[in-house]
Amino acid sequence: MIVILFGPPGVGKGTQAQKLKDDKNLCHLSTGDMLRAAVAAGTELGKQAKSLMDAGDLVPDELVISIIKERIIEPDCAGGFILDGFPRTVAQAEGLDKMLKAVDKQLDFVFALEVDEEEIIDRRAGRMVGAKSGRVYHAVHNPPKVAGKCDETGEDLIQRDDDKAEVMRHRLKVYQEQTAPVAAWYEARGKLTRVDGMGSVEEVYGRLSAAMTN
Ligand code: AP5
Repeated sequence: MIVILFGPPGVGKGTQAQKLKDDKNLCHLSTGDMLRAAVAAGTELGKQAKSLMDAGDLVPDELVISIIKERIIEPDCAGGFILDGFPRTVAQAEGLDKMLKAVDKQLDFVFALEVDEEEIIDRRAGRMVGAKSGRVYHAVHNPPKVAGKCDETGEDLIQRDDDKAEVMRHRLKVYQEQTAPVAAWYEARGKLTRVDGMGSVEEVYGRLSAAMTN
Protein backbone atom coordinates (compact mmCIF):
# COMPACT_ATOMS: atom_id res chain seq x y z
CA MET A 1 0.00 0.00 0.00
CA ILE A 2 1.28 3.46 -0.92
CA VAL A 3 -0.38 6.42 0.78
CA ILE A 4 0.22 10.16 0.57
CA LEU A 5 -0.84 12.33 3.51
CA PHE A 6 -1.24 15.85 2.23
CA GLY A 7 -2.15 19.16 3.85
CA PRO A 8 -0.84 22.40 5.36
CA PRO A 9 1.81 22.58 8.11
CA GLY A 10 0.38 21.51 11.44
CA VAL A 11 -2.75 19.83 10.02
CA GLY A 12 -1.80 16.47 11.59
CA LYS A 13 -0.04 14.56 8.80
CA GLY A 14 2.79 13.27 11.02
CA THR A 15 0.36 12.28 13.79
CA GLN A 16 -1.86 10.28 11.44
CA ALA A 17 1.17 8.79 9.67
CA GLN A 18 2.40 7.39 13.01
CA LYS A 19 -0.94 5.69 13.60
CA LEU A 20 -1.13 4.36 10.06
CA LYS A 21 2.41 3.04 10.30
CA ASP A 22 1.70 1.20 13.56
CA ASP A 23 -1.70 -0.08 12.40
CA LYS A 24 -0.83 -1.24 8.88
CA ASN A 25 2.86 -1.92 9.38
CA LEU A 26 3.91 0.55 6.70
CA CYS A 27 7.13 2.48 6.38
CA HIS A 28 6.72 6.17 7.39
CA LEU A 29 8.65 8.47 5.04
CA SER A 30 8.60 12.05 6.29
CA THR A 31 10.81 14.34 4.20
CA GLY A 32 10.74 16.85 7.08
CA ASP A 33 12.13 14.21 9.51
CA MET A 34 14.73 13.06 6.97
CA LEU A 35 15.90 16.63 6.38
CA ARG A 36 16.01 17.39 10.14
CA ALA A 37 18.11 14.22 10.64
CA ALA A 38 20.48 15.38 7.87
CA VAL A 39 20.78 18.80 9.53
CA ALA A 40 21.50 17.18 12.93
CA ALA A 41 24.13 14.89 11.38
CA GLY A 42 25.78 17.82 9.57
CA THR A 43 25.75 16.07 6.16
CA GLU A 44 26.13 17.99 2.89
CA LEU A 45 22.35 17.70 2.35
CA GLY A 46 21.76 19.01 5.88
CA LYS A 47 24.03 22.00 5.25
CA GLN A 48 22.12 22.86 2.08
CA ALA A 49 18.73 22.40 3.76
CA LYS A 50 19.26 24.15 7.11
CA SER A 51 18.88 27.83 6.22
CA LEU A 52 15.92 27.12 3.93
CA MET A 53 14.13 25.12 6.62
CA ASP A 54 14.87 27.71 9.32
CA ALA A 55 13.28 30.35 7.07
CA GLY A 56 10.26 28.14 6.29
CA ASP A 57 11.16 27.82 2.60
CA LEU A 58 11.15 24.62 0.58
CA VAL A 59 14.31 22.64 -0.08
CA PRO A 60 15.04 22.27 -3.86
CA ASP A 61 12.93 19.64 -5.63
CA GLU A 62 15.89 17.63 -6.94
CA LEU A 63 17.23 17.08 -3.39
CA VAL A 64 13.98 15.76 -1.94
CA ILE A 65 13.14 13.74 -5.04
CA SER A 66 16.51 12.00 -4.82
CA ILE A 67 16.15 11.16 -1.09
CA ILE A 68 12.70 9.64 -1.69
CA LYS A 69 13.90 7.78 -4.78
CA GLU A 70 16.70 6.14 -2.78
CA ARG A 71 14.48 5.42 0.22
CA ILE A 72 11.51 3.71 -1.46
CA ILE A 73 13.68 0.91 -2.83
CA GLU A 74 15.01 -0.02 0.64
CA PRO A 75 13.79 -3.46 1.88
CA ASP A 76 11.71 -1.98 4.75
CA CYS A 77 9.54 -0.14 2.19
CA ALA A 78 8.77 -3.30 0.18
CA GLY A 79 5.45 -3.84 2.02
CA GLY A 80 4.31 -0.27 1.38
CA PHE A 81 4.91 3.23 2.66
CA ILE A 82 3.33 6.49 3.75
CA LEU A 83 4.60 9.73 2.25
CA ASP A 84 4.27 12.58 4.78
CA GLY A 85 5.28 16.03 3.49
CA PHE A 86 6.08 14.80 -0.02
CA PRO A 87 5.24 15.70 -2.77
CA ARG A 88 5.09 19.40 -1.96
CA THR A 89 5.32 20.88 -5.46
CA VAL A 90 3.89 19.79 -8.81
CA ALA A 91 7.46 19.00 -9.94
CA GLN A 92 7.79 16.61 -6.97
CA ALA A 93 4.44 14.97 -7.82
CA GLU A 94 5.65 14.44 -11.39
CA GLY A 95 8.95 13.07 -10.05
CA LEU A 96 7.09 10.63 -7.79
CA ASP A 97 4.92 9.51 -10.69
CA LYS A 98 8.02 8.69 -12.74
CA MET A 99 9.81 6.87 -9.91
CA LEU A 100 6.76 4.72 -9.12
CA LYS A 101 6.34 3.80 -12.80
CA ALA A 102 10.02 2.82 -12.91
CA VAL A 103 9.51 0.29 -10.08
CA ASP A 104 6.09 -0.79 -11.41
CA LYS A 105 4.12 0.48 -8.39
CA GLN A 106 1.18 2.79 -8.06
CA LEU A 107 -0.38 5.08 -5.51
CA ASP A 108 -3.30 3.68 -3.55
CA PHE A 109 -4.48 6.78 -1.70
CA VAL A 110 -3.84 10.52 -1.62
CA PHE A 111 -5.53 11.90 1.47
CA ALA A 112 -5.83 15.67 1.85
CA LEU A 113 -6.42 16.52 5.52
CA GLU A 114 -8.51 19.64 6.03
CA VAL A 115 -8.88 21.69 9.24
CA ASP A 116 -9.77 25.30 10.15
CA GLU A 117 -6.93 27.81 10.32
CA GLU A 118 -7.60 28.53 14.03
CA GLU A 119 -7.33 24.83 14.82
CA ILE A 120 -3.99 24.68 12.99
CA ILE A 121 -2.69 27.56 15.13
CA ASP A 122 -3.78 25.74 18.31
CA ARG A 123 -2.27 22.41 17.22
CA ARG A 124 1.02 24.00 16.26
CA ALA A 125 1.28 26.08 19.45
CA GLY A 126 1.17 22.94 21.63
CA ARG A 127 3.37 20.71 19.49
CA MET A 128 6.33 18.87 21.04
CA VAL A 129 8.54 16.42 19.17
CA GLY A 130 11.15 13.77 19.88
CA ALA A 131 14.17 14.91 17.85
CA LYS A 132 15.50 11.34 17.45
CA SER A 133 12.24 9.41 17.18
CA GLY A 134 10.36 11.99 15.08
CA ARG A 135 7.30 11.24 17.27
CA VAL A 136 4.85 14.13 17.53
CA TYR A 137 2.84 15.09 20.63
CA HIS A 138 0.57 17.91 21.73
CA ALA A 139 0.67 19.28 25.26
CA VAL A 140 -3.12 18.98 25.62
CA HIS A 141 -4.61 16.93 22.76
CA ASN A 142 -1.99 14.22 22.38
CA PRO A 143 0.25 14.24 25.48
CA PRO A 144 3.12 11.80 26.10
CA LYS A 145 2.70 9.21 28.91
CA VAL A 146 5.41 10.96 30.96
CA ALA A 147 5.39 14.77 30.72
CA GLY A 148 8.17 16.11 28.49
CA LYS A 149 9.50 12.64 27.51
CA CYS A 150 9.09 10.67 24.28
CA ASP A 151 7.05 7.44 24.77
CA GLU A 152 9.30 5.60 22.32
CA THR A 153 12.82 6.73 23.23
CA GLY A 154 12.45 8.49 26.60
CA GLU A 155 14.33 11.48 25.14
CA ASP A 156 13.38 15.05 26.16
CA LEU A 157 10.71 16.51 23.90
CA ILE A 158 11.52 19.79 22.17
CA GLN A 159 9.73 22.53 20.23
CA ARG A 160 10.65 22.83 16.56
CA ASP A 161 12.43 26.06 15.54
CA ASP A 162 10.12 26.46 12.56
CA ASP A 163 7.06 26.53 14.86
CA LYS A 164 7.93 30.12 15.81
CA ALA A 165 4.99 32.37 14.86
CA GLU A 166 6.85 34.36 12.20
CA VAL A 167 8.30 31.31 10.44
CA MET A 168 4.97 29.52 10.66
CA ARG A 169 3.22 32.41 8.88
CA HIS A 170 5.75 32.14 6.07
CA ARG A 171 5.34 28.34 5.88
CA LEU A 172 1.58 28.76 5.44
CA LYS A 173 2.21 31.27 2.62
CA VAL A 174 4.66 28.87 0.94
CA TYR A 175 2.06 26.13 1.29
CA GLN A 176 -0.62 28.23 -0.45
CA GLU A 177 1.68 29.26 -3.28
CA GLN A 178 3.68 26.11 -3.98
CA THR A 179 2.03 23.12 -2.32
CA ALA A 180 -1.74 23.67 -2.58
CA PRO A 181 -1.60 23.22 -6.42
CA VAL A 182 -0.48 19.62 -5.82
CA ALA A 183 -4.02 18.81 -4.57
CA ALA A 184 -5.49 20.03 -7.88
CA TRP A 185 -2.87 17.95 -9.74
CA TYR A 186 -4.03 14.74 -8.00
CA GLU A 187 -7.69 15.74 -8.19
CA ALA A 188 -7.42 16.11 -11.98
CA ARG A 189 -6.13 12.52 -12.06
CA GLY A 190 -9.00 11.24 -9.89
CA LYS A 191 -6.64 10.36 -7.03
CA LEU A 192 -7.49 12.87 -4.28
CA THR A 193 -9.69 12.07 -1.27
CA ARG A 194 -10.47 14.97 1.04
CA VAL A 195 -10.68 14.00 4.72
CA ASP A 196 -12.13 16.13 7.51
CA GLY A 197 -9.20 16.58 9.90
CA MET A 198 -11.21 18.22 12.71
CA GLY A 199 -11.84 16.32 15.94
CA SER A 200 -9.64 14.06 18.02
CA VAL A 201 -6.66 12.11 16.67
CA GLU A 202 -8.75 8.93 16.94
CA GLU A 203 -11.74 10.45 15.13
CA VAL A 204 -9.57 11.59 12.24
CA TYR A 205 -7.87 8.20 12.07
CA GLY A 206 -11.31 6.54 11.99
CA ARG A 207 -12.18 8.60 8.89
CA LEU A 208 -8.92 7.68 7.20
CA SER A 209 -9.42 3.98 7.95
CA ALA A 210 -12.98 4.12 6.63
CA ALA A 211 -11.81 5.82 3.43
CA MET A 212 -9.29 3.02 2.91
CA THR A 213 -11.89 0.30 3.15
CA ASN A 214 -14.60 1.98 1.01
P1 AP5 B 1 7.65 19.10 7.63
O1 AP5 B 1 8.33 18.54 8.80
O2 AP5 B 1 7.12 18.19 6.59
O3 AP5 B 1 6.50 20.06 8.15
P2 AP5 B 1 5.01 20.30 7.57
O4 AP5 B 1 4.53 19.55 6.41
O5 AP5 B 1 5.04 21.77 7.38
O6 AP5 B 1 4.10 19.77 8.61
P3 AP5 B 1 4.27 19.72 10.10
O7 AP5 B 1 5.25 18.66 10.51
O8 AP5 B 1 4.51 21.12 10.62
O9 AP5 B 1 2.79 19.34 10.56
P4 AP5 B 1 1.95 18.01 10.42
O10 AP5 B 1 0.87 18.18 9.41
O11 AP5 B 1 2.81 16.79 10.28
O12 AP5 B 1 1.22 18.03 11.84
P5 AP5 B 1 1.55 17.19 13.18
O13 AP5 B 1 1.12 15.78 13.02
O14 AP5 B 1 2.96 17.48 13.61
O15 AP5 B 1 8.61 20.15 6.86
C1 AP5 B 1 9.45 21.04 7.54
C2 AP5 B 1 10.34 21.75 6.52
O16 AP5 B 1 11.17 20.80 5.81
C3 AP5 B 1 9.60 22.51 5.40
O17 AP5 B 1 9.22 23.81 5.82
C4 AP5 B 1 10.66 22.52 4.30
O18 AP5 B 1 11.65 23.49 4.54
C5 AP5 B 1 11.31 21.15 4.42
N1 AP5 B 1 10.67 20.10 3.60
C6 AP5 B 1 10.04 18.99 4.07
N2 AP5 B 1 9.56 18.25 3.04
C7 AP5 B 1 9.89 18.93 1.90
C8 AP5 B 1 9.64 18.69 0.51
N3 AP5 B 1 8.95 17.61 0.11
N4 AP5 B 1 10.09 19.60 -0.37
C9 AP5 B 1 10.79 20.69 0.01
N5 AP5 B 1 11.05 20.97 1.30
C10 AP5 B 1 10.60 20.10 2.24
O19 AP5 B 1 0.49 17.88 14.17
C11 AP5 B 1 0.67 19.19 14.65
C12 AP5 B 1 0.27 19.25 16.14
O20 AP5 B 1 -1.13 18.97 16.26
C13 AP5 B 1 0.96 18.21 17.04
O21 AP5 B 1 1.22 18.78 18.28
C14 AP5 B 1 -0.07 17.07 17.17
O22 AP5 B 1 0.07 16.36 18.40
C15 AP5 B 1 -1.37 17.88 17.13
N6 AP5 B 1 -2.49 17.13 16.56
C16 AP5 B 1 -2.47 16.34 15.46
N7 AP5 B 1 -3.69 15.85 15.18
C17 AP5 B 1 -4.52 16.38 16.14
C18 AP5 B 1 -5.93 16.28 16.39
N8 AP5 B 1 -6.73 15.54 15.62
N9 AP5 B 1 -6.44 16.98 17.43
C19 AP5 B 1 -5.64 17.75 18.20
N10 AP5 B 1 -4.31 17.89 18.03
C20 AP5 B 1 -3.75 17.20 16.99
